[in-house]
Parts: sequence; structure tokens; C-alpha cells
Amino acid sequence: MADQPAIARPRRVVLGVGGGIAAYKAASLLRRFTEAGDDVTVVPTEAALRFVGAPTWSALSGKAVTHEVFDGVEQVRHVALGQQADLVVVAPCTANLLAKAAHGLADDLLTNVLLTARCPVVLAPAMHTEMWQHPATVANVATLRARGVTVIDPASGRLTGADSGPGRLPEPEDIHAAALAALADPTSRPAEDLDLDGLVVVVTAGGTREPLDPVRYLGNRSSGKQGIAIAEAAAARGARVVLVAGAVDIPLPQHPRIETRRIESALGLQGEVEELRARADVVVMAAAVADFRPRSVATAKIKKTHAEDGRDDDSAPTIELVRNPDILAGLVRERARAGAERPYIVGFAAETGDAEHSVLELGQDKLRRKGCDLLVVNQVGVGVTFGQDDNTVTILRQDGAAPVTVGPASKTRVSHALLDVIAAEVRR
Ligand code: C5P
Repeated sequence: MADQPAIARPRRVVLGVGGGIAAYKAASLLRRFTEAGDDVTVVPTEAALRFVGAPTWSALSGKAVTHEVFDGVEQVRHVALGQQADLVVVAPCTANLLAKAAHGLADDLLTNVLLTARCPVVLAPAMHTEMWQHPATVANVATLRARGVTVIDPASGRLTGADSGPGRLPEPEDIHAAALAALADPTSRPAEDLDLDGLVVVVTAGGTREPLDPVRYLGNRSSGKQGIAIAEAAAARGARVVLVAGAVDIPLPQHPRIETRRIESALGLQGEVEELRARADVVVMAAAVADFRPRSVATAKIKKTHAEDGRDDDSAPTIELVRNPDILAGLVRERARAGAERPYIVGFAAETGDAEHSVLELGQDKLRRKGCDLLVVNQVGVGVTFGQDDNTVTILRQDGAAPVTVGPASKTRVSHALLDVIAAEVRR
């Protein structure tokens, strides 16, 4: 399980239910996900609702259930559900659904989800043997598998009528296990989505700690989750990743394509980035780098002073700060000096906005000042973004192309949306 991407908990699972007699078995599959703490949205087809009604799915999932694209239009549900999902499982998946998925048809909510999902997709077919073995179905399954979709082989045995053969829905525990395996497999993304193969992506993550004395430092609230999610997503898309990590709240990823380097301070981070710059195709500066550091670092612990009578007095030291180098701006300067196209440089901006300026205005300003290719802007404050599993960001572009807003979505999904933009630019 070491390669499992750090998908924020609870995972967002879409459970599609096709119109087959085995639809009732999806109820115990749903239970397995919810009992594991997953956030499950059930999306039945219209035909599925003739076998098991919406109230059953609503009661078991604790959510409203619809098969219609036109319900909840204001939330653009037909797109958002797929985009935000960490996993889509369809059980039972009929021959008709397999055909629609293979050909990209989208005439109800479930097929829209299948077309917008960029996460692992697991289909558990159930149908009569003749249908499963029909050349049309065989070709559809091959197409889907070539695209990286997991299509589980149906079980053999007694079918709905008196006949038997391959076509039975596998047991819910087997579907659940296949879904977890697909989630854990970094290459379960569609083959054509290994779009960063051969590229070196440097990601900085977490907060810096600027030492004051041997025991104290100035730090910040960065959890490192977004940067780590980007590193994992880039590795899953085939990149060789160097993750330069400061102080982070979660374990660092163990992945054959991720090399991790630890740093403490902004100057430490600068040293690593400068060393990596020449071989990087992409640098993503997600780290929260301190703008200032104490001018001097005491060699011994700074002590309180005492009055003559031995009691604490009220005096306190003044800490003088100096500016840290702007590592991001330095990267842009060095690239220009070398007349090079690489690395492609991405900055982050954590903004709170102020009385006169919105978060986005401040972001546009920062993009101009720093000169990086993309600036990922998010709104921060105590409990907003920092340390959270979800994020909403706006990606601003130096080339003048329209900004892209992503979220609220898991940091994994935000990472893939950012990498979609990066891959399109770097592969140009
Ligand atoms: O100026 P500000 O700190 O808001 O800029 C944020 C972006 O700049 C982030 O991408 C951060 O990693 C980077 N940065 C840097 N060196 C600094 C401060 C920030 O590279 N000293």
C-alpha cells in the first residue's frame, strides 16, 4: 500500500448502479464504503431505480439520489460529481453502460460522471453470458481497459433465470477489494494520462522554520498537504519527482519515483532548489517560505532576564529580522539570465485579501512581480486551507490565458487540475 496516493479523508466515492437484478447487491457494497468512512454518492440509472428505489439509496447513503442531469443544475452536478470524485465504482454495470462508457455517451447523470471523472474508475459487469461474450461487449471492455479503466471479470454461476455461466456480479467484498486496489495503484490512471513521463518535477512543500536559537524558530501554519499531493500526483502521471519538504503535518510519501529531501529554513530550501534547478523541467513552489528570518541566531537558548531580587522582570528581547531571498523570483531571474525555457515555474500565493484588494487582485499583482508562469492563489486564514483536506484555488497565468478556478475539491484533485495545465504547457 506504500504507493497509495494521499487522498484526503473522507474519500469521495461515486457508486453508480446499473439496471440489473443484481442492483440490490450494491447496497452491501455501499455499506462497505460508508463503514470505511468514505463519502459516497449513489448515482443509479433510471433502469436501476426499477429494481431498487431511490429511498433505499438515500437512506443508506444519507444523501439525495437522482439519475437526472437536470436536478441540482445550479451546482453543475453533472460535471462536479465526476470532477471531485476520488473513485467511481459502477456495480452492477450492464452491457448498455459498458457500451456508453466505451463510446463516451452521456445521456444521464451516471454517464456524465463517467465522462468527467479523472480518478480511478472500476466497473463490475453483470449480465447474461451471451451479452458478456458478444463481440460488441468484448470490444467495449477492451477499449475501456486500454484506457486504464478497471473492468472486473464477472463471476460464473447461476444467472437470473435457469441458465448459468459467466455474467454474475462478483461479491461485494471482491468489488470493494478491486476498488481499493485501483486506488492504491499509481498507474491506474488512463495510460494516455502518464503525460509527465520522463520529466523531472521539483516540488517544494511545507513551512520553513527560521531559527532564533537552538530550541526556537519562527514558523508558519503550512501543513504541506497540498505540496505533497502535487508530488504524488506528478509521480502517478509518470514524472520523476524531487520533493523538497520543510515542516509538514503528514507522513512523506514513499514512492519509487519520488526522491525526498528535508530542509529547515528558507536558506536551506534555497540551497536545494538552486542545486536542482538545472535538471528540473518544472518547479512547483508550494512551500510556505518565510519572508523574514532573525538577523542572528543565538548559539545558546535565549533566557529571560531577572531583576536584582531574582524575580522575573518585564523586559523582553527585540528580535531583529532580515529579508529572506525570494527563491521563486530568483528562479525566474536565473532562467531569464540563462536564456532558457526550462524550468517551467509555478508559484503559490496564500492571500487573505484586505480592505482595498480582493484575493485575486493581490494574486494578479504577485504574478506580475514574481514573473513565474503560473500562480496558484488560495484564500487563507486560521482553519481556511491550512491543514484542511479540501482546497479551492484559482490558477493565474502569465501568458494572459483565462484564470482557472478549481474546487472545492480534495487536494489530490486540485493537484491533477494544476498538472493538467502544466502538462499542456510543458508538452507543447
Ligand atoms: O511573496 P509570497 O511569500 O506570498 O510568495 C509566495 C510564493 O513565493 C510561493 O510560491 C513561495 O514558495 C515563494 N516564496 C519564495 N521565497 C520566499 C517567499 C516566498 O520562493 N522568500
